[in-house]
Amino acid sequence: MPQLNEREQWGSKLGFVLAAAGSAIGLGNIWKFPYVVGQNGGAAFIIIYLLCVAMIGLPVVIAEILVGRTTQRNPVGAFKALSKSKFWPLVGGMGVLAGFVILSFYAVVAGWSVGYIYEAAAGRFAEFKTPEIAGNHFNNLTANVYWGIGMLALFMIMSMTFVYAGVKKGIENGSKIMMPILFLLLIIVMIRGLTLEGGDKGLEFLFNPDWSKVTGTTILEALGQSFFTLSLGMGAMLTYGSYMTRKDNIPSAAVEIVFLDTLIALIAGVAIFTAVFATGQNAAEGPGLIFQTLPIVFTKMPGGYIIAILFFILLTIAAITSAISLLEVVTAYFIDEKKWKRHNAVLVFGGLAFIIGIPSALSFNLMKDFTLFGLNFFDLANYLSANIMLPLGGLLLAIFVGYIWGIDKAFSELKNGAEKLFEKSKLRVKIWAILVKYLAPVLIFLVLLQSLGILQKLLDFFSEII
Ligand code: PFF
Repeated sequence: MPQLNEREQWGSKLGFVLAAAGSAIGLGNIWKFPYVVGQNGGAAFIIIYLLCVAMIGLPVVIAEILVGRTTQRNPVGAFKALSKSKFWPLVGGMGVLAGFVILSFYAVVAGWSVGYIYEAAAGRFAEFKTPEIAGNHFNNLTANVYWGIGMLALFMIMSMTFVYAGVKKGIENGSKIMMPILFLLLIIVMIRGLTLEGGDKGLEFLFNPDWSKVTGTTILEALGQSFFTLSLGMGAMLTYGSYMTRKDNIPSAAVEIVFLDTLIALIAGVAIFTAVFATGQNAAEGPGLIFQTLPIVFTKMPGGYIIAILFFILLTIAAITSAISLLEVVTAYFIDEKKWKRHNAVLVFGGLAFIIGIPSALSFNLMKDFTLFGLNFFDLANYLSANIMLPLGGLLLAIFVGYIWGIDKAFSELKNGAEKLFEKSKLRVKIWAILVKYLAPVLIFLVLLQSLGILQKLLDFFSEII
């Protein structure tokens, strides 16, 4: 039994890598990545996305984990420990808040996934003869207040169970079981897609770049997606890093996490687009791709009944291991800073996340017409978190590590556990320092301007002058 106030730790590096990969791999990979690729023209977007992940995502993942491991604290406590200013803990606080905002819409989509396991098992997809029928079915379900809120509650309870059980017993052990299952199920779905007649057209779409579709927005969209998918910019990686010891090798763990996240996104892309193209569906369908287009695909393929059930189980697992990390951030904050007991923190804030999720669930029915800045609650939470809070958090973290804490101190801290890498390839770690200090802040700043619509106005302004 851990003593009161004794901080929990991961049982092994593998446990940490799987838990952090579990956080990274989620709806962002399986729900969002394919439809964003579909809307942005396929392979060219993927190449830019991969560059963003390697040049900005990976260095910032390392920086975030490092701040957590060094301080052994939640996001607020970590900034407090490394700087005297009152400003930086607020940045940590914004991360805790962002976790809530993300959970509030994330858990709603995850709830749909739970509900679709049942829909698939009950054989409902067999009735989907046309896209209209599938779309109507989805709209009817989400328009049902009880279904939306009920599934949200079910999903929140499932996620809370793991966080309630603790870092090692709940999060680590849960991830060790769920991640391999997820991987296996996804491979099965991918093989099914690859063996469909006409599936190769999907591969062509994914891996044959059409550069004419690339615009400035594509690049910025790719960077935004890489932030969301890597759980960056709100302290989730920081919090998970805080349960590591100084003997653990951060760069190698980070490479593994980023590699797994990217691999899963690509496999999900192959699984979904081979199926979509083989059955003649529309690749640029948008957010409904998984819930409206995919069920039709399942009805048209041999073995589709089982594949459909497996698919929504894997989507739910992926969402749970991510939601766990969102909930753990606020839980860690209340344990460290307010001396709460884990169980109380999980019950109170899991409950609160459910309550905040309700307006998102109602955005598809009762509160459809309730808009702020032209967006309903669901879209607003999605937009605010992914396009503003995460990039802002990531930008500030990179600035903090590069300039406030100082890249030299960060550098010598990073060496703990990675002595061999520092001896053998000093150049690689130097590149990390340069990317964190210079490239990441500049590029993320541009994304942020783009999200706020300011960049476009500036570009228009300058093009008028010229
Ligand atoms: N990375 C998750 C996904 O791709 O679904 C989403 C996410 C989880 C974002 C945790 C941020 C976070 F802190």
